[in-house]
Amino acid sequence: MFIVLLGPPGAGKGTQAQRIATATQLLHISTGDMFRENVKNETELGKLARTFMDRGDLVPDEVTIKMLLERISRPDAAKGAMFDGFPRNVVQARALDEALAARGAKIDRALLINVPDSELVARLGGRWICRGCGKLYHERNDPPKAAGVCDACSGELYQRDDDRPEVVASRLEKQKPPADLIEHYRSAGSLREIDGLRSLDAVTASLLEAIG
Ligand code: AP5
Ligand code: MG
Ligand code: ZN
Repeated sequence: MFIVLLGPPGAGKGTQAQRIATATQLLHISTGDMFRENVKNETELGKLARTFMDRGDLVPDEVTIKMLLERISRPDAAKGAMFDGFPRNVVQARALDEALAARGAKIDRALLINVPDSELVARLGGRWICRGCGKLYHERNDPPKAAGVCDACSGELYQRDDDRPEVVASRLEKQKPPADLIEHYRSAGSLREIDGLRSLDAVTASLLEAIG
C-alpha cells in the first residue's frame, strides 16, 4: 500500500505518520527528515537544501524528486510506504505516479489533513523534536514527561531552525498544498480529507479508518 499525507506545515503529517507507522508497520518516508539529515551531516545536498529551507522555500523539484526516487528504489520500500511532505506539487506527484506505475503500483490513498492558519502557528511555535529518535512533541498539546527529554529514548529535544516566526510565515504563505495537487488526487479517486483540528487520537483514528 502506498499512501501520501498532505497538509500545510504543522498540520500533523509527521506526528500522524509516526503513529500510523507504529500501528501498521508501514514505512514512513519524510523528505523533510531526509533533508534535515543531510543538513546535519553537512553533505552537498544538505548545503544546497539549507539555502531553501532557511527561507521557507521548497527545494527545487529536480533535487527532491531524485532523492525520493532513490529512496523508494530500496528494497524496504518494495511493498509500500507512507509519504510525508512529498509530493508538494503536481510535477512531484506525476514523478511519483510514474515510478510506482513502472512497478505495477499506485498511490492508494491521499490523506489531506486540514488545519487553519492560526492553529498552525501555535503548533509550529511549540514543537520540540528528539535528537535521538525523531519523536515529535508539543510543549502544551503533547508534552514530554520531563521538559527537554524524550520519553522514548531519553534523547535531548530541540526546536527546528525553520520554526522561527519569520520562517513560519514564509512557509505558510508558500507551502500549503496547491489546489491542482489536491485535484490530482481527487480526480484519481484517492483523496480523503481529514479534520486535523481535533485531538491527536481522533485524527489518528480517522486516518486509520481512511486507510482501511
Ligand atoms: P517538512 O519537514 O516536510 O515540513 P512541513 O511540510 O513544513 O511540515 P512540518 O514538518 O513542519 O509539519 P507536520 O505537518 O509534519 O506537523 P507535525 O506532525 O510536526 O519540510 C521542511 C522543508 O524541507 C520545507 O520547508 C522544504 O524546504 C523542504 N522540503 C521537504 N519536502 C519537500 C518537497 N517534497 N519538495 C520541496 N521541498 C521540500 O506537528 C506540528 C506540531 O503540532 C507538533 O508539535 C505536534 O506535537 C503538534 N500537533 C500535531 N497534531 C496535533 C493535534 N491534533 N493537536 C495538537 N497538536 C498537534
Ligand atoms: Mg513534518
Ligand atoms: Zn527520542
